[in-house]
Amino acid sequence: MYKAKAYSAASATSPLASTVISRRDPTENDVQIEILFCGICHSDLHTARNEWSEVMATTYPCVPGHEIVGRVTKVGSAVTKFKPGDLAAVGCMVDSDRTCPECRAGQEQYCPNVILTYSFPDKHLGGVTYGGYSDSIVVDERFVLRVPSGIDLAGAAPLLCAGITTYSPMRHWCVSKGKKVGVVGLGGLGHMAVKFADALGAHVVVFTTSPGKKDDALRLGADEVAVSRNSDEMQKHTDSFDFIVDAVSADHDINAYINLLKRDGNITLVGAPAKPLSVGAFGLLLRRRSLSGSLIGGIAETQEMLNFCGQHNITSDVEVIPIQKINEAYERLLKSDVKYRFSIDMASLKAE
Ligand SMILES: NC(=O)c1ccc[n+]([C@@H]2O[C@H](COP(=O)([O-])OP(=O)(O)OC[C@H]3O[C@@H](n4cnc5c(N)ncnc54)[C@H](OP(=O)(O)O)[C@@H]3O)[C@@H](O)[C@H]2O)c1
Ligand SMILES: [Zn+2]
Ligand SMILES: [Zn+2]
Repeated sequence: MYKAKAYSAASATSPLASTVISRRDPTENDVQIEILFCGICHSDLHTARNEWSEVMATTYPCVPGHEIVGRVTKVGSAVTKFKPGDLAAVGCMVDSDRTCPECRAGQEQYCPNVILTYSFPDKHLGGVTYGGYSDSIVVDERFVLRVPSGIDLAGAAPLLCAGITTYSPMRHWCVSKGKKVGVVGLGGLGHMAVKFADALGAHVVVFTTSPGKKDDALRLGADEVAVSRNSDEMQKHTDSFDFIVDAVSADHDINAYINLLKRDGNITLVGAPAKPLSVGAFGLLLRRRSLSGSLIGGIAETQEMLNFCGQHNITSDVEVIPIQKINEAYERLLKSDVKYRFSIDMASLKAE
């Protein structure tokens, strides 16, 4: 065991603050990573503030962070994929049972025994897992990803959650050339969804509550932008979408988007508002539309997504911040004021 610097929340109402945590020494299958950048996902905020208490209550202290990019410092004797000095990345999961049907299908995120990167039982040290708001992490090599060469590291970190969470449902629902795709909410996930849908050749329409994000949406790859509070801009798209991804973090009217789907169209929720959404039956019935959800993506698909990003030169648009600005960043997330992901420069933790 060794000590690592980190930022943690002591309770649902306390701001994140500097702390010291224990990490395990690498076992034979482990990779130890010096963390260079960690993205800030809205899930970090939901968890730090225990907003999902009814589904998965947070255990404190909580060290969030699951968009991790860094450099390998040490590997266990059985590790084959990594060596010290390599770049490496870790996303939302650090382990699973590896034997259930989900794991065997490469869908570890749906494993009943998945271990998420933070606030999940830590079978090595007891207590719970601690995430990427830290100067290092130790993870089994099966859950460590390769970073494409030449990619900007601050902008690559958010691919590990915002990237895979939007890439995976687009692949599942066959987003491709000729399809009309909607993206609801231009935040961290939403802006990655725009980039992927555009790279896959779709006609992309962004729905935003922030008129000031219109130009950015077009620059990021959207073909059209609609301000969702303007009913004329919404109506114009009735019955027209093949697929919509909803990446909104707060309560909102999903029926308005269901009505924009054409027959057999699908809307997938990736946003995870704390309160249940209300869904009208007729919106779904009338055109055999479907509503589904999607959780991150499996390890193999995450690597596929990273390779896709390497080939298509895709990274997240980031605002790089020192860890000391974390609480301010959370407040800005709540105001939809991020362009379009915060990425923490972990060198700033050295000052603590
Ligand atoms: N399914 C998964 O596996 C998964 C993975 C990661 C994150 N998530 C969840 O996905 C959600 C989005 O995460 P994120 O990191 O992208 O968050 P984010 O950067 O804060 O973006 C959320 C966006 O939603 C829109 N929005 C916010 N409040 C709204 C409201 N009251 N009504 C309508 N729109 C609103 C805003 O976009 P505009 O300004 O354009 O309106 C905002 O930028 C969170 O709930 C997060 O926990 C799920
Ligand atoms: Zn996330
Ligand atoms: Zn499993």
